[in-house]
Amino acid sequence: MTALVDIHLTGADADAALRADARAGLTAYPKHLPPKWFYDARGSELFEKITELPEYFPTRTERALLERSADEIAVASGADTIVELGSGSSAKTRLLLDAFRRAGTLRRYVPQDVSAPALRDALDALAADYPGLELHGVVGDFTAHLDRLPPQGHRMVAFLGGTIGNLLPPERARFLRALRATLRPGEQFLLGTGLVVDPAVLVPAYDDAAGVTAEFNRNVLHVLNRELAADFDVDAFDHEAVWDAEHEWIEMHLVARRAMTVTLAELDLTVDFAAGEAMCTEISAKFRLPGVRSMLAGAGFAVVRSWTDPEERMALTLATAV
Ligand code: SAH
Ligand code: TRP
Repeated sequence: MTALVDIHLTGADADAALRADARAGLTAYPKHLPPKWFYDARGSELFEKITELPEYFPTRTERALLERSADEIAVASGADTIVELGSGSSAKTRLLLDAFRRAGTLRRYVPQDVSAPALRDALDALAADYPGLELHGVVGDFTAHLDRLPPQGHRMVAFLGGTIGNLLPPERARFLRALRATLRPGEQFLLGTGLVVDPAVLVPAYDDAAGVTAEFNRNVLHVLNRELAADFDVDAFDHEAVWDAEHEWIEMHLVARRAMTVTLAELDLTVDFAAGEAMCTEISAKFRLPGVRSMLAGAGFAVVRSWTDPEERMALTLATAV
């Protein structure tokens, strides 16, 4: 069975958004690019490889946490529809689907992702493994298209993997307001956040020995070369992950190894990099539980309960729209 897929982001929309983001980010100082452009088919595959790295603990920690808490989450929620933002491969989500099924409420799963290839692969696998589950995929941007999520059912919106930490504070506030505005009172939000941990553990998660994260970070330059006819010498950029103790976030950079002039033919744009110049490609903010709670309360959610792993590296927080 082929699942229903809504397209809120066509190839043409994505192209226009990439052009605007690349022009704004590459002409700013310091230069920056939004993280959603990592995730073409190759980027999504590289992210899946990251989740299997020995240094990248967030995925396996959150999976273990879901294994222990999914039944409690299902009972506390009672939702018949799980909507998931930035769902990727939906691999960990199966633990929630199974628990909501055991609780007897599950009817529908609505994965949303900016990456159409990742979404299609996930839906194909789910359709084979979950006969009878209504699948409704959405290709869309969770920073722009939340108001167009399918309204059917009593929904719990899951946002896992610490992905909320990839939004800058003002974007995060806007995201939470938009999410609250699309939910009806009584519907829920299940938020997975990375917690503040020892930088000696955290930094290697974003800078692994095998260099997969470096490849993932540089993939955004391959995307620009292909989509905007740019001529980035991709291998002349080093990956760097820096812990910013003041903001409590990891900052991912691409650092120009030498001075370079890059042309983006499709934008009629030429950009200079100085030797050693760093371009920010992503932040990954880490949280403390009281901060998670006040962020949710400030956006119009009532926190039901949080679950953490024994080492307090990741948290899952269930909240209700009030
Ligand atoms: N939820 C999965 C994947 C996390 S990686 C997990 O926990 O392992 C982040 C995911 O969000 C990727 O699948 C990426 O394609 C998607 N993504 C990134 N920016 C997005 C955006 N602005 N809108 C929708 N999806 C986005
Ligand atoms: N949401 C993931 C995180 O913040 C994304 C991610 C993992 C990532 N490793 C990365 C993004 C490296 C950029 C570079 O943990």
